[in-house]
Amino acid sequence: MRSKKVLCLLVAVCFGLVMAGVAVATDKGPETITMDSKVYPKHKKSLVTFSHQKHNVDYKIACDECHHVYKDGKNVWKEGDDVGKCSCCHSGAKAPKEPKLSKAEKIKGYHYAAIHENCKGCHKAAKKDGKVAPTKCAECHPKAAK
Ligand code: HEC
Ligand code: HEC
Ligand code: HEC
Ligand code: HEC
Repeated sequence: MRSKKVLCLLVAVCFGLVMAGVAVATDKGPETITMDSKVYPKHKKSLVTFSHQKHNVDYKIACDECHHVYKDGKNVWKEGDDVGKCSCCHSGAKAPKEPKLSKAEKIKGYHYAAIHENCKGCHKAAKKDGKVAPTKCAECHPKAAK
């Protein structure tokens, strides 16, 4: 119970931040997002530019493929609801090597696992359908120009 309360509090704080950003974000969310999550004290890789617009409009991916609020194991998020930063809930950076965690535990607790599962997981599946979607590190984290 205690952990649930803490989580809700965290979510409330994060939603507060989302509301503060409302002037730039429309209902559909921003067109492009520079992923710069604050769970990482420092980024080791270059920042990822994510075209929200292309994914939503051109690739016709439903919002709830990426946005969710789980209740009793079901995604109850629907369009129009508040959108929390992924890091509100997946609030750790990268899972430690010890103790050994299952894949599901890593995803639930850690941003690194959650985001790569979401982005890369879908891209791998898309590739199987013959589409061209990035799965290599440098395709999403471009090497800095020298
Ligand atoms: C392919 C995945 C994907 C799809 C599809 C998608 N989004 Fe997002 N959206 C994201 C990611 C990733 C972020 C950035 C979250 C973060 O910074 O933690 C985001 C951010 C947002 C934000 C801004 C939140 C903030 O904190 O600034 C809103 C609003 C939003 N999305 C709404 C939508 C709506 C409405 C749809 C459907 C029309 C949609 N999204 C479809 C992945 C997606
Ligand atoms: C309100 C809290 C919350 C937010 C915000 C959130 N998640 Fe989650 N997410 C969860 C929970 C809880 C689970 C675990 C569900 C389970 O195990 O039953 C989960 C599961 C997942 C999973 C594994 C299952 C699946 O749906 O594929 C992925 C991947 C994931 N989240 C990625 C993301 C990404 C990417 C974002 C931001 C765009 C995000 N999450 C935002 C709470 C959240
Ligand atoms: C549910 C599926 C899905 C998810 C989730 C998803 N993508 Fe994609 N993405 C695609 C598909 C499909 C394409 C290629 C479509 C095409 O070219 O026909 C693509 C293309 C791309 C491209 C290359 C073209 C472009 O849009 O610039 C980038 C970069 C990209 N995705 C980044 C991301 C990142 C970062 C995330 C996670 C925040 C993400 N994607 C999540 C399906 C997805
Ligand atoms: C489909 C796009 C995609 C691919 C492919 C990808 N990443 Fe990421 N990666 C992301 C996104 C999005 C984030 C979240 C960045 C944020 O929110 O700050 C991230 C975060 C990270 C982080 C934590 C932030 C940082 O810079 O320290 C590291 C480390 C990382 N990725 C390494 C890798 C490595 C290594 C590979 C190849 C094995 C890889 N990524 C492949 C999209 C991708």
